[in-house]
Amino acid sequence: MTAINFIAPDGTRYEIDAPDGASVMQAAIRNDVPGIDADCGGACACATCHVYVDEAQFARLDVMEAMEEDMLDFALDVRPTSRLSCQIRVRPDLAGLTLTVPQRQA
Ligand code: FES
Repeated sequence: MTAINFIAPDGTRYEIDAPDGASVMQAAIRNDVPGIDADCGGACACATCHVYVDEAQFARLDVMEAMEEDMLDFALDVRPTSRLSCQIRVRPDLAGLTLTVPQRQA
């Protein structure tokens, strides 16, 4: 398990122990973090699991694959630190990762 932090659209902070190997989207859904719809169930086909990665932590993530980059074009209010949470796998070296849920999803 790895500690992942989410900041919901209303500012509420969720500190979650996420199972390694799962996606951070799955961890958010299982812990009722509001604002992540994940309509496609993690298939990288909807962009409704959009999150903002803490700027100082962004480089800790693997580089985005082309499919995620293309799908992010469909997300709303995209920023340089935007990622799709279904494409981020939980692993021990991501402990303390902080993700902010956008005010709205596509
Ligand atoms: S859950 Fe659909 S793109 Fe992430």
